[in-house]
Amino acid sequence: MECGVIAKNRLDSNDIKRRRFDFPMLQSKMHGKNLVYLDTAATAQKPFAVIDTITNFYKEGYATVHRAVYPIAAHSSERYAEVRKRAQRFIGAEHWEEIIFTKGTTESLNLVAMTYGEMVLEKGDEVIVSVMEHHSNLVPWQMLAQKKGAVLRFIPMNKEGELDLSVYESLLSEKVKLVCVGHVSNVTGTIHPIKEIATLAHQYRAKVVVDGAQAAGHLSISVVDLDADFYAFSSHKMYGPTGVGILYGKKALLEAMPPYQGGGDMIEHVDLEGTTYQSPPAKFEAGTPSIAQVLGFGAAISYIEEVGLSAIYSWENKLFTYALKKIQSVVGLTVLGSPKQRSAILSFVVEGAHSLDLGTMLSLKGIAIRTGHLCAQPLLKEFSQTAVSRLSLGLYNSFEEVDYFVHCLQEAVFLLRPEISY
Ligand SMILES: Cc1ncc(COP(=O)(O)O)c(C=O)c1O
Repeated sequence: MECGVIAKNRLDSNDIKRRRFDFPMLQSKMHGKNLVYLDTAATAQKPFAVIDTITNFYKEGYATVHRAVYPIAAHSSERYAEVRKRAQRFIGAEHWEEIIFTKGTTESLNLVAMTYGEMVLEKGDEVIVSVMEHHSNLVPWQMLAQKKGAVLRFIPMNKEGELDLSVYESLLSEKVKLVCVGHVSNVTGTIHPIKEIATLAHQYRAKVVVDGAQAAGHLSISVVDLDADFYAFSSHKMYGPTGVGILYGKKALLEAMPPYQGGGDMIEHVDLEGTTYQSPPAKFEAGTPSIAQVLGFGAAISYIEEVGLSAIYSWENKLFTYALKKIQSVVGLTVLGSPKQRSAILSFVVEGAHSLDLGTMLSLKGIAIRTGHLCAQPLLKEFSQTAVSRLSLGLYNSFEEVDYFVHCLQEAVFLLRPEISY
């Protein structure tokens, strides 16, 4: 693995300077300027450790999994299985059988809706979702509710961008079968109190589905401690490749669930008259999986563990606190929400300056930020917005980048609104 420094409890600016060389994209240019990548919440850049694992697998060890006895195929299967165990440890799951590989968070959540949701939901039952969800953790539940004649109920938020747990408590009843919430908001960065949400849901035997897309790679996760029944996240947002998602599900639930898709690898025995299925996780992984990408995901976990998750968290936190303070100096700027518990994500609007114009002007300076509705239209509506700009940090971002970003943002605002420049 080509990693610069050894894991520590804290990272400093010099560590980050060295770490940046682990990420080839960070040495690239955009519009002739050094790339300043502030869009990790959309997708994270990849270290050599991940890129090399994928390339070397194709160059030196490539063969399929679970299907053949020749040594390279057997080795592929072993490596694939080992990543599952690494993922199990990474999120503190009790059993490796509780880890299912999918395409991404979106597919993981759809899988739960189309298997567990289909199995338990009856007409008149209720599903609780929050108003702060990414579309991936809303649309599958809308589709399911429509199909089954179930009702969606919504946990509201306050103006700080935190969920109103007293209203949530009042929504709970024996009719509620599922509670679906994000761990970290992709708009406000709010870290939701999953453990509390799960404890309340379990009093009514409702199951809790957590969208952990913005938590993995930033926060330390223990699905056992959170008592999540299902937990979904994506490799590509935690420095791993695209095309790999993870779905954790409690063993007993996965065993009781029907399969998601039919095909090779998920069967125990097939007859023309019918089929019996494998136990989880194979039951939910029909077809040849994304083998190289799963190995790359394994390398991403190792990379994060080598840098140190708690060191990453405190670096991002320190940098974010600085960015949050500094950005308030931009004339006419409002940050969406001010949650007490937050990750390194902030969304903002600037009076009289459209987010698409800001995004375009910043990109000309080499700065990559996310603009638009952020796949969270209902949440933006709560803030009376239809489009915003978002800054999100990763382990590789620096104080210099934040300074440069705020400087260029202020400059862009002055250009768009000359009347406020002096
Ligand atoms: C909170 C949240 N949930 C779900 C997703 C969907 O993840 P993916 O596109 O990897 O399936 C995202 C991606 O932006 C997200 O931010």
